[in-house]
Order: sequence, then structure tokens, then C-alpha cells
Amino acid sequence: MKTVVYPGSFDPITIGHLDIIKRASKLFDRVIVCIMKNVEKKGLFTYNERKQLVEIAIQDMDNVVCCTSRGLLTDFMRANDIVYIIKGLRNAEDFNYELSMDRFNSQLLPESETIYLAAEADQTWVSSSAVRELISYDADISPYVPPKVLEQIIELRRNSL
Ligand code: PNS
Repeated sequence: MKTVVYPGSFDPITIGHLDIIKRASKLFDRVIVCIMKNVEKKGLFTYNERKQLVEIAIQDMDNVVCCTSRGLLTDFMRANDIVYIIKGLRNAEDFNYELSMDRFNSQLLPESETIYLAAEADQTWVSSSAVRELISYDADISPYVPPKVLEQIIELRRNSL
């Protein structure tokens, strides 16, 4: 059984992430969406909230699961016997960043292999950070997140006020 991990901060999950998950689920027997810490980013949603949002987005996909992990990606992979990582690439900036991540991960877990999927042309500018910024201005995020995720974000924001 071929398993791939899709790591990210998913703060929150966007339509771009969901597209990568759907495509990965056709290439692999099992996809694990792993919500992880990115030391460069200040989070908006808690890990539990992000997991809730991912779980809503993947609810119709049989071979996709979601988890959270606070450690190194390669430690998570070693513990779960995973060698494949999947990443989405939107532009050259993503490519440069992912290439250095790839090298770190290869040093830490030599058998690891990262597979890249190019983002759909109409999603190359969709990002969680833009969604977070729009949320901070109470602006419309409906074009960038799956509809059921949007409903839950509205609910979470209502409860946090
Ligand atoms: O969605 P993001 O923020 O681009 O995802 C980045 C993430 C979370 C995948 C990356 O920061 C990560 O792998 N974090 C876990 C810690 C780790 O293994 N870092 C890489 C080696 S330094």
C-alpha cells in the first residue's frame, strides 16, 4: 500500500490544497494530510480548528485522513513508515522554498522522496496567508475555501467573538 504525506500548516485549508489532495488521492492508496508547525508563520486557527476544517473538506474521500504533528516531518514519516511527500507548487517562489525543504528532508531521511504537483492555473495566487488577511478585514473568502469549510470558519469566528 503506497502512502503519501501532504504536510502543511493548512491555516486554513484552501481550494488549492483540496485540489492537491484530490489529485494525490488518485495517485496513492492513502493520503495523510499532516498539519504541522511552520516556525515562520504566526497561526490564526488552532491545530484542532485546522484539523476540523481539513476533515470537513476531505469528508467524501475514502483514502484521505488528517492528523496533526508538532515535530519534524521526517520523524513523523519514520514513525509511520512513510517515504513519500507530496507538495503543490504555485510559482517559482514555492519551487525555491520547497527545493530547500526537500534537501533538508533528504538529509534527515535519505529514503524520502518528494513529489510535486503543479497548482491549477486559476489557483496559482490562492494562499492561506491571503485568506487569513481577508479574514482579519472581515472580507469575503468564499472564492478561496471549499463551501463547507467556509460555513465552519464563519461558525468558528462567530464563537470566538
Ligand atoms: O503550508 P506550509 O506553511 O508551507 O508548510 C510548511 C511545513 C509545515 C510543511 C514545514 O514548515 C514543515 O515541514 N514543518 C515541520 C518541521 C520540519 O520538518 N521542518 C523541515 C526541516 S527543517
